[in-house]
Amino acid sequence: MNILKLSALSKKEINDIIDLAEEFKNGKKVNYNHEKTIANLFFEPSTRTHYSFDMAALKLGCNTINFDGSNSSLKKGETLYDTIKTFEMFGVDALVIRATENEYYNSLINNINIPIINAGDGTGNHPSQSLLDLMTIREEFGKFEGLKIAIVGDVKHSRVAHSNIEIMKRLGMEVYISGPEEFREDGYDFKNLDDIISDMDIIMLLRIQRERDAKLEKLTNEEYHNLYGLNSERVNKMKASAIIMHPAPFNRNIEIADDVVECSKSRIFKQIQNGVYIRMALINKVLNK
Ligand code: CP
Repeated sequence: MNILKLSALSKKEINDIIDLAEEFKNGKKVNYNHEKTIANLFFEPSTRTHYSFDMAALKLGCNTINFDGSNSSLKKGETLYDTIKTFEMFGVDALVIRATENEYYNSLINNINIPIINAGDGTGNHPSQSLLDLMTIREEFGKFEGLKIAIVGDVKHSRVAHSNIEIMKRLGMEVYISGPEEFREDGYDFKNLDDIISDMDIIMLLRIQRERDAKLEKLTNEEYHNLYGLNSERVNKMKASAIIMHPAPFNRNIEIADDVVECSKSRIFKQIQNGVYIRMALINKVLNK
């Protein structure tokens, strides 16, 4: 089986993956004793997703191969498909792939005969990030239904936002969107952060995706921070029970103030920790199908 986007999974399947991730977090052991090899094929830069998939595979007792595109035959003109097919022929048991093109996997799935886990496709989907976000939210509040989240920033270029908006609405959360006009997208009703912040259970901040040509046309970084950034003044307006999330990497003092990154409401580093357990659950799921 493949894990490509959460919209293909039922609410039960999503909760089951989070349940298994929590079991791993609580010490559940599965050991493949090096019988299985996972190839991490990242055609875009990554720290968290790449190396937490690697860590997850190692914790399950798998071997891993980590592909370095910058020192590969991509440089000789080899295609994405030919690179991926090569790793299948090496005999690896599953592929973790991040690539720049939205839904890159559609051109692979009919010809690749081992499981693919999508580690992010362009501006499309980031299923493992959404799952670790949901795990962090469920740990905090014990539910999804009725929770209010504001997703703030570069929604237009964010695969994290696109994945999260779909699944969070399906799970019964109220999703509010905020950000400057450059990052607005049809179909979303943008709100002023200061009008909604005191009513939110979760504030999720997004980085400006400059690698996807996202730019602030009318605002300096400082103006962006003043209008849309989460600073301590805004944190003081949040509900006592509310939390702060960010998929990271974050740009300090642009979308989030330096002193807010590790404040008591921040769950940013917990998200990163939960990512290892979610990715253990995903690898285990695809190896067992
Ligand atoms: N959150 C996330 O996808 O981070 P990386 O790009 O470092 O993997």
